[in-house]
Amino acid sequence: MLRTVVCVSGGGTNLQAILDALDQGRITNVEIRAVISNNPGAKALERAASHGIEGIVMSPKRYPDRESFNEEFTGKMCELDPDLIVLAGFLVRIPPQMVARFANRIINIHPALIPSFCGVGYYGLKVHEKVLERGVKVTGATVHFVNEGMDEGPVISQKAVCVEEGDTPEILQRRVMEQAEWILLPRAIDDIANGRIRVEGDRVVSCT
Ligand code: GAR
Repeated sequence: MLRTVVCVSGGGTNLQAILDALDQGRITNVEIRAVISNNPGAKALERAASHGIEGIVMSPKRYPDRESFNEEFTGKMCELDPDLIVLAGFLVRIPPQMVARFANRIINIHPALIPSFCGVGYYGLKVHEKVLERGVKVTGATVHFVNEGMDEGPVISQKAVCVEEGDTPEILQRRVMEQAEWILLPRAIDDIANGRIRVEGDRVVSCT
């Protein structure tokens, strides 16, 4: 069983997609050890509770400075000792010491086709606002391993989604979630849990 911790910040629809995939047997060999949220009001915590999963709040706002938060957050993660950390809409920068400690064991879902529309300032709805401002016709989502850079780690999977005339950021966000994120993230977790992919240098390769 792959001991997994999921980190969230808000609605938790990606967490829900993971829980549904577990319930339906589309993810196997995975046990969700805990859900960590930086936001005590996150609906994601309710989703975790209704599945009997421990919810933990770790907010940078509760610490005097970022360094003490980073230490506590990394310490908590070491205590939980997961095989895999899933950032499912987690909008807090992962401490460098955690990236080093869990090298190639942290994955993130990003709501665009990396390397487009990513990096500092590109998160949540803002990504879709920038996509519409730029007028691109295709966007999508990416699942990738997390390294010390911002949205720069090895890409696991991507899926393109069309931008349509009259889209608002909210409409586009929903389409990207439905057509890409909720499919890609559970599949990536299942692939890792069942040894179908591995990191080779800066790339993810198939083990089959
Ligand atoms: C998702 O669209 C996810 O891709 C994005 O935040 C949203 C969270 O929604 N993550 C990022 O922007 C990370 N850079 P959710 O809480 O409903 O899963």
